[in-house]
Amino acid sequence: MTPELITSIAALRARLLPIRRSGQTIGLVPTMGALHLGHRRLIEGARRDNDAVVVTIFVNPTQFDRKDDLERYPRTLTDDMAVCGEQHVDFVFAPDSAEMYPSEQLTWVDVPALTEHLCGPSRPGHFRGVATVVMKLFQIAQADRAYFGEKDAQQLAVIRRMVRDLNMSIEIVAIPTVRESDGLALSSRNQRLTAAERNIAVTLSQALFTAGKAVQNGERSAGTIRTSVLPIFHTHPEVRLEYFSIVDVETLTPVETIATPVLIAGAMYVGTTRLIDNVLAAPPSG
Ligand code: PAF
Repeated sequence: MTPELITSIAALRARLLPIRRSGQTIGLVPTMGALHLGHRRLIEGARRDNDAVVVTIFVNPTQFDRKDDLERYPRTLTDDMAVCGEQHVDFVFAPDSAEMYPSEQLTWVDVPALTEHLCGPSRPGHFRGVATVVMKLFQIAQADRAYFGEKDAQQLAVIRRMVRDLNMSIEIVAIPTVRESDGLALSSRNQRLTAAERNIAVTLSQALFTAGKAVQNGERSAGTIRTSVLPIFHTHPEVRLEYFSIVDVETLTPVETIATPVLIAGAMYVGTTRLIDNVLAAPPSG
């Protein structure tokens, strides 16, 4: 089945209105394209839970803090349409920037308390751009459910909080991170890695798994865990660690003593490619 490709907001609204009016549910999968197995899992979730599935493909300029990163982001609409066809998507919404931002954007959605740590400091404006475009997509599609990957844990937390704080009637469904057999989290950015960089990239998930096991085994000091894990990143000169943090799962603020479930998250550059990943870990009970 070939999905219907829609590029205008008006056309998408016109196609979705009768579906909603007939009482059928709509699942929304917001993406920036370059679809991989991780996106397929999001679409599978949407397909399983809803009558109609909309995948959005929009490389959102307002969430890129670096112009070169925006320019280098892979754009693969033909391949993405084929993936959506295989996954039985009904509609692909692929607007251009002029359609999404026809005039200067003066209204923004910001969740500053959740973006003070992790990726927030190194990517000024990024989460404001994400929250704003996701809000726009929610307003346009009026879907019942939207699907996001746990790999982007901070993005997921920001979107969940936006929905809660602004009383939006959409269910946010989180889908677990999909990994290569060696543990590397799937990401559209992996395409940019050379073969050598690809082998080094697994360092991040290895460090996260090691830290997660330490938490599960009862190590309560975040400092001790960080000190034992950080040398892993110094073994490769191509790696530049941006952060490796142990934060509260709700507030995303760093914890010193681990007494409740934590999110362990990291970001690093391998060469010029920035990768992020995370794991959840809970201390043993009792
Ligand atoms: O996760 C992404 O691909 C993007 O941040 C999103 C949610 C589609 C917003 O542009």
